[in-house]
Amino acid sequence: MWKIEPPLENRKGTLYIGGANTVELAEKFGTPLYVTDEGRIRENARRLIRAFKPHYSNFKLKYAIKANNNLSILRIIRSEDTGADASCAEEIKLAKMAGFEAHDISYTGNYNSSSELKFATNSNVIINLDDAAILAKLLKFAVPETISFRINPGVGRGKYSGLVFGGGKTKFGISAEDAIEGYSAAKKAGIKRFGIHMMTGSCVMEVDYFSEITEKLVDIAAQVKREVGIKFDFFNIGGGFGISYQPGEEDLDINALGKQVAQTFKDGTKKYSLGEPELMIEPGRYIVGDSAILLARVHHIKHSAKTYVGTDVGMNTLLRPALYKAYHQIFIANRLNEKSKQRVNICGQICENTDMIAEDREMPEIREGDVLAILNAGAYGFAMSSQYNSRPRAAEVLVNRGYAEIIRERESVSDFIIRQRVPARLMK
Ligand SMILES: Cc1ncc(COP(=O)(O)O)c(C=O)c1O
Repeated sequence: MWKIEPPLENRKGTLYIGGANTVELAEKFGTPLYVTDEGRIRENARRLIRAFKPHYSNFKLKYAIKANNNLSILRIIRSEDTGADASCAEEIKLAKMAGFEAHDISYTGNYNSSSELKFATNSNVIINLDDAAILAKLLKFAVPETISFRINPGVGRGKYSGLVFGGGKTKFGISAEDAIEGYSAAKKAGIKRFGIHMMTGSCVMEVDYFSEITEKLVDIAAQVKREVGIKFDFFNIGGGFGISYQPGEEDLDINALGKQVAQTFKDGTKKYSLGEPELMIEPGRYIVGDSAILLARVHHIKHSAKTYVGTDVGMNTLLRPALYKAYHQIFIANRLNEKSKQRVNICGQICENTDMIAEDREMPEIREGDVLAILNAGAYGFAMSSQYNSRPRAAEVLVNRGYAEIIRERESVSDFIIRQRVPARLMK
């Protein structure tokens, strides 16, 4: 039988999230449906702050908007004393709409357009550059008060190869040598405040890795300080804190991680006389990943060489299985107490053979009309979804102590055409 953990509950064989009955939610709001538990987001943010702040008080949690950019969710996260990490102009706009102050927003783009650099400069957010040579482009618009560079510390790690952002084979970050060049040019241009940043991969489950890369970043900062003669106001060690997707997988020990990283940071800044700069993290997945499930309805079951369970959730609704072969646990929301007895492939309705949510998965007997709950869908779920095959994107519901509110309406065909313009000659 499935192990059901908060914010999920098994009430007499029916799955609940945040006190709300998932079968009733599927009935009321339709499927596919993303259901997010507000309480879980708050717990995750608070757990992160508690893991770091007691060990290093000059600490700030920023949320990586790319994981889930729903405005209601951003507003919940902002109310937990956090900042935001934006990857583009649109995310800067969303952060401001959600109430984040400019000084609490960092902008980490890559291969930036000049217009986006100009927008970021005018927005007064903290700009974090992915290449020393981009600084000259930025300086055409203004001399910002603060600048930071994204360092590639030479190592990277991630749950799938597509989630490794540091080390030899990635398009991200700069070396220590290039950083020296970048910070020298910034100092020469009259920039007064400096930060240093890295983001080496996503969904990392090993505690020690984070203190290892923190040590590397501090070493590089010390080298920059020596060569360029600047002081660092903040260090941003990125996000990447993993959550467990597989049954039986151990959770990341975030308390041990926070303590260890803070200690490494204190030792390093003391060793190199770097003062007491602000320590920032910018996770996405850890804050929202396990706060949401995705509800799917089973429409047809085909028994051919294999059994295919066809649902209304496909790669258009949840891309991660097709993109990384990512594993998401799946429950039958309306019959939780049944035992596994068959192996099935659970798929969507998209005309691609990669449209598979689970392959060769051991499940209890699934029937047409069942509601399936796909777990840990809060990060890079809706955010990566598309209208492929002309399928409207899902609706989103927020639950809080049993009460459910719609936070994004389901799309319809009018959303496909709203920005289209058909020339009059084609209308004859
Ligand atoms: C620059 C940057 N910061 C933070 C994140 C958040 O990563 P995660 O969701 O693994 O915490 C990402 C993810 O791609 C990123 O690119």
